[in-house]
This record gives sequence, structure tokens and C-alpha cells, in this order.
Amino acid sequence: MALIKFVKENKEIDAALGSNLRFKAQENNIDIYTFVGKLTQCGGYGQCGTCVVDIVSGAENLSPRTAVEEKMLRKRPSSCRLACQTIIQGPASIETKPDKKASFKKAKAEAMAKQVARESDASPHKPASTSAE
Ligand code: FES
Repeated sequence: MALIKFVKENKEIDAALGSNLRFKAQENNIDIYTFVGKLTQCGGYGQCGTCVVDIVSGAENLSPRTAVEEKMLRKRPSSCRLACQTIIQGPASIETKPDKKASFKKAKAEAMAKQVARESDASPHKPASTSAE
């Protein structure tokens, strides 16, 4: 069993290892869908992208992102998951219905940090910037 905390709802649930995050949330009356999501959700088949959650902590205790998630969440930060594609393998803290604007900002910052890291890796002998004298 693993303890899963839903931060916004301030609710903790016990989940069996190997259980599906969406299923456990619904089973415990945790609402993971926005209003539009309730109307358009695909039923957990990874087709609609409406079950997005943000992993606050314990991401290492969840199954890795699937190819479907990589495609559907490309504009979201790496901490976002589709609940229906996430298998619980240990304790974690989850934020349901993450704010879209904040999420996009976080993803943009993440992408910029990756680009800076890539550029510094590409030119390891680049002299350090000199200060204006
Ligand atoms: S419920 Fe449709 S992608 Fe998760």
C-alpha cells in the first residue's frame, strides 16, 4: 500500500501498489476533472487529456510517462501526468486540476533551462563571460 495525498482536497488515501491513479481518485471521490473535462473525458483511455494532474512530490514512485503522455503533455511541465496513465508504485502528493497558465509558465521555464544546459554542454571550452570594464 502507498499513501497518496491530494493537496488541494487535503485528503490522503491508501492505494494498492500497481493501482491506477485516476481510478483511485474517483473511487475516493476526488474530482480530477474540470467542468469541461467532465463533459469530454474519454473514460481513462488516454485520448482526451482532461485528467491532467501535477505531481508535487513522489514522481519517482509513479510509473514513467507513457508515449501518449509525452505527446499530450508536451506543453506542460515534466511534473504533469495524465492520471489515467499513471500507475502508483509508492507514496506521492498530487495536485488535481493544475492551473493551466501557471503550468505553461513552468513548462516554458523548464524548456529554457534545458536549452541553457544544452548550449553550455555544446561548448564546454567557451570562455566565461567577461564583465564590462
Ligand atoms: S481520462 Fe482521457 S486522457 Fe485521461
